[in-house]
Amino acid sequence: MSFLLSVLLSLLVSILGGLYLLGAFRRRRPGEPPLDRGLIPWFGHVLDFRRDTVKFLQKMNEKHGDMFTVQISGLYFHFLMDPLSFGAVVKEARTKLDFTRFSQQMVIRSFGYHPIEEDHKLLQASSNKYLTGDGLVVMTQAMTSNLQNLMLHSVGTEKDENEWKEDTLFNFSYNIVFRAGYLSLFGNETVKSAGSLEKAKEKDRIQSDELFYEFRKFDKLFPRLAYGVLPPKEKMEAERLKRLFSSILSVQNVNQKENISGWISVQQQERAANGMKESMQDRYMFLLLWASQGNTGPSAFWLLLFLIKHPDAMKAIRKEVEEVLKETGQEVKRGGPLINLTRDMLLKTPVLDSAVEESLRLKAANNIARGVRQDMTLKLADGREYNLREGDIVALFPHAAIQMDPSIHPDPQTFKYDRFLTPEGTKKTDFYKNGKKVKYYNMPWGAGVSMCPGRFFATNELKQFVFLMLAYFDFELKNPEEEIPSIDPTRWGFGTIHPTRDVQFKYRLRF
Ligand code: HEM
Repeated sequence: MSFLLSVLLSLLVSILGGLYLLGAFRRRRPGEPPLDRGLIPWFGHVLDFRRDTVKFLQKMNEKHGDMFTVQISGLYFHFLMDPLSFGAVVKEARTKLDFTRFSQQMVIRSFGYHPIEEDHKLLQASSNKYLTGDGLVVMTQAMTSNLQNLMLHSVGTEKDENEWKEDTLFNFSYNIVFRAGYLSLFGNETVKSAGSLEKAKEKDRIQSDELFYEFRKFDKLFPRLAYGVLPPKEKMEAERLKRLFSSILSVQNVNQKENISGWISVQQQERAANGMKESMQDRYMFLLLWASQGNTGPSAFWLLLFLIKHPDAMKAIRKEVEEVLKETGQEVKRGGPLINLTRDMLLKTPVLDSAVEESLRLKAANNIARGVRQDMTLKLADGREYNLREGDIVALFPHAAIQMDPSIHPDPQTFKYDRFLTPEGTKKTDFYKNGKKVKYYNMPWGAGVSMCPGRFFATNELKQFVFLMLAYFDFELKNPEEEIPSIDPTRWGFGTIHPTRDVQFKYRLRF
């Protein structure tokens, strides 16, 4: 009897110990946000969160208010939904809220790259130097020339014809913008090795196209890879793709190219100088490819689709494009030179700027996460205070909390190309909630220390693509009545969302 009792007691202790480790006994302490652990120990709300993050957060917001704590795969996330309080998180000292811990785990799992202490400093320095100011002028020139190679290579040859061509818009936009961005950052085939400039350009077209299709395979696996829930077969495929990209983008291969951007070459050299193994440097190159190309193509798709579906927007931007061309003495005509689209020209397009910002407001949906490094108190804008525990995570989801808030952006589901324009035609930055000015009124690039370092280049890429499409092509949907596709909810939190299906369109040269 006593033996049976001790077996039962040990079993009970093990179960209770297990449940404790799984977080089943965590209770809300005084001053903490409302706690909602979910029904499944340790996993908590992971299923609902992954299935549709926005729906889940809206449900929790209604139930618990502006700040609440949920358990997701063993971690406790404090979601803050009050846009006026975002500054308290974004500006908090790194000794209290740190962005590296959470992102490092994701980077190791998804890319096999083991971050080093200096990573962030090196990335910021090279991004400031090569992706802004004079560096951006150089990058814009490289992008123009690569876009010309991909979009206009047959203009002026016997293949040059102005028949309608058909394609699918997501694939078309992602393909062109990915390849042009990749070539601008990672360099071009050398004329010497290809034999002539034409052959080098052709090799760039072929090789970047092959790379795009492999990238898309990885792209589709990415959300589940990042969550660590890929089944074995797909996990093996992800591993194969990682190896493939690390080899294509290896130090040795990239160094065979010319016109490699300073952003890539300097980051490579600095890691080598830091004593990093070459194989790890190669993985870092893949991480940079992913960060730089994973969002821009899908963003280009949404922008172009919105313009097609909103003829007033298309007309206003086409007018702006024509004015900029006229001002710089350039004309798109049969047999004439290709237009040289420069950084200066892109500074004269406020309407296009507003349309880019509006399409990102609607479709960019990243998660901003900060690890709590010590027990602390977070003060919200209205004076409320919440205690947070070391080891937890503070999370912002600006798409739900800001970008779709009807009190900040009236009629938030509708694309309004001039939403970010003042009546005088300049950039609008005044947005209000409950009479108070909202500083973070659109956050496609994140914020604070982890804000996207490529945002100026990315904006230029989108504008260059649309500018050239408008200058050179007529384009329309194959079925003009076709609705804008819904979004794939499994990609919430991973940057620009993807559509659930592609859209048929047709295009032809305008002259
Ligand atoms: C429309 C296109 C793009 C969007 C919407 C976008 C958005 C973002 C977002 C939301 C983050 C994370 C911010 C955070 O965690 O707070 C990020 C990080 C990053 N982005 Fe972008 N991005 C785009 C294009 C680019 C481009 C073109 C480049 C480089 C040329 C780039 C390089 C990076 C890098 C390196 C990081 C990691 C930053 C870090 O760890 O500190 N991105 N981006």
